Amino acid sequence: MTAIGLLAAKGSPGVTTLAAAMVLARGGVGTAVVEADRAGGDLALLHAVPQSPGLAELAARARRAAVDDDLLSAHLRPLADGMLPSLLAPVDAAGAGAALDLLADRARLLALPDPAHTLVIDLGRVDPASPAAGWLRLCDLLVLVTRGELTGLAHTQALARSLLDSSRPLGFALIDTGPYPPADAEAALDLPCVGVLPYAPKHAARLRDPRHIAAAASSQLVSAAGALFDTVIARRNRQEVLAQK
Ligand SMILES: Nc1ncnc2c1ncn2[C@@H]1O[C@H](COP(=O)(O)OP(=O)(O)O)[C@@H](O)[C@H]1O
Ligand SMILES: [Mg+2]
Repeated sequence: MTAIGLLAAKGSPGVTTLAAAMVLARGGVGTAVVEADRAGGDLALLHAVPQSPGLAELAARARRAAVDDDLLSAHLRPLADGMLPSLLAPVDAAGAGAALDLLADRARLLALPDPAHTLVIDLGRVDPASPAAGWLRLCDLLVLVTRGELTGLAHTQALARSLLDSSRPLGFALIDTGPYPPADAEAALDLPCVGVLPYAPKHAARLRDPRHIAAAASSQLVSAAGALFDTVIARRNRQEVLAQK
């Protein structure tokens, strides 16, 4: 199991959209979105489905039983006709926070055995001093999502600095709003850029709409998210090779 954590420093740059696009790019095969934003989940609302069974029920079950692949699968909702398997968080912040605390404490969710499976974890906006720290540790890699503009990059720079001692490999995803191209953003953040997403409001809006999501799966936004997915997995595999040496 590989866990890719996506997070933002401030505002709403497009973390949830990127998480969905990454999983859609794989057609939902061997991967799933985990909603782990302490502000509450979005996908149940967007897809007009019940929020349970999801993260809250899985957290309750995990108090009594180990989370194995079957238990996780039983709590995934096959959104978008199975192209977007998702572990849905409660929509309210209190419910989402409680479920996240239960799972992070037990550190079980990500210790799952299937090495081919990749969870894309939507951590939302993260303050490193917040209780999200437990979930940050559970991720194999952290990808900071930022828009390519002055304020976004400045806040992301501060978050990156505070995460440097998290001992998790860090990279960033750039939503190409300009005026800062990836090389400038890399220099400013002192982090590798693992992917550039086009600024594409229309396609991003379609990804939020279950009537249009299938058509949006062939968009440039989703293919860029797929390339980002591949880059991150390649980095993860290289690290494993280095660790074995
Ligand atoms: N790559 C993008 N280009 C243009 N608009 C985007 C992009 N990604 C997200 N958006 C839009 O930005 C808003 C916030 O997106 P969302 O993914 O919910 O952000 P977050 O999870 O960071 O709060 C939504 O209106 C979404 O459609
Ligand atoms: Mg979000």
